[in-house]
Amino acid sequence: MRIKPVPEKLKPENLNRATIAYYNLRQVHGDMPHRIPRGPSPDLPDEQARMIRESREAMRGRRVLEVASGTGSASREIAVTAVSVTGVEIASNMLSIAKESDNPSNVSYLAGDAFDLESIASGERFDGGFASGFMHTCPSSRYLEFLDGFHGRLEKGSTVFMRSSRPTSPDAVSRLFRVEGHADQFMTRQLSDGSEYVMVENDPTEDELRRIFEPLSKNLMVHIGNYWWWIRYELP
Ligand SMILES: C[S@@+](CC[C@H](N)C(=O)[O-])C[C@H]1O[C@@H](n2cnc3c(N)ncnc32)[C@H](O)[C@@H]1O
Repeated sequence: MRIKPVPEKLKPENLNRATIAYYNLRQVHGDMPHRIPRGPSPDLPDEQARMIRESREAMRGRRVLEVASGTGSASREIAVTAVSVTGVEIASNMLSIAKESDNPSNVSYLAGDAFDLESIASGERFDGGFASGFMHTCPSSRYLEFLDGFHGRLEKGSTVFMRSSRPTSPDAVSRLFRVEGHADQFMTRQLSDGSEYVMVENDPTEDELRRIFEPLSKNLMVHIGNYWWWIRYELP
């Protein structure tokens, strides 16, 4: 993997801005991930089906607070077993698409920042936490800030399920880079209008996930697949 010097683009505020701009514009251009060729991946459908099954099982019967709900595709998946799902999303175009989609009546979406959940749906009580495709773009320096605020909105004994894609396709691997002295891994992403975005693209190992989540949780389950990783745990 290439080692590059720390450019302006890697300052936390610029990474955050690039992440929001990328997801907003990706919708405008319709550059969805499934358009990117990944090569032969015959085991992908089975892994995805298992991840969805385990997400639904974890959120069964729960009033779920979901962060980074995007267009709501994962929200609708877990709504099959959850009592309710409240998705929080920062990119306005993603949020509009989610709201305009065909949603079941137990799903709702709110504009908000995963790092600032205190006043989101204040007064509502949640006993399930869900994040699909958020942690891999979260700078590691902000993990504890995020988890502190997220867990703070969940009741004691809540179940949390988090999942993220892994940059394992040849295309993804070719766009990854690290910077000396920096804990995160980065990726350059491109949209079809030629615009480029540098974003965090972490791909944690099981040991790293255990180091982050074990001190904060009970009954931590970690699964590292070929295309996604996912974890499930309970709040003490
Ligand atoms: C990979 S997409 C995942 C969308 C959806 N959860 C799914 O699984 O299909 C990541 C989403 O996280 C959102 N996001 C990134 N940072 C966020 C933040 N600080 N607060 C809320 N949403 C955020 C992005 O705008 C984008 O919609």
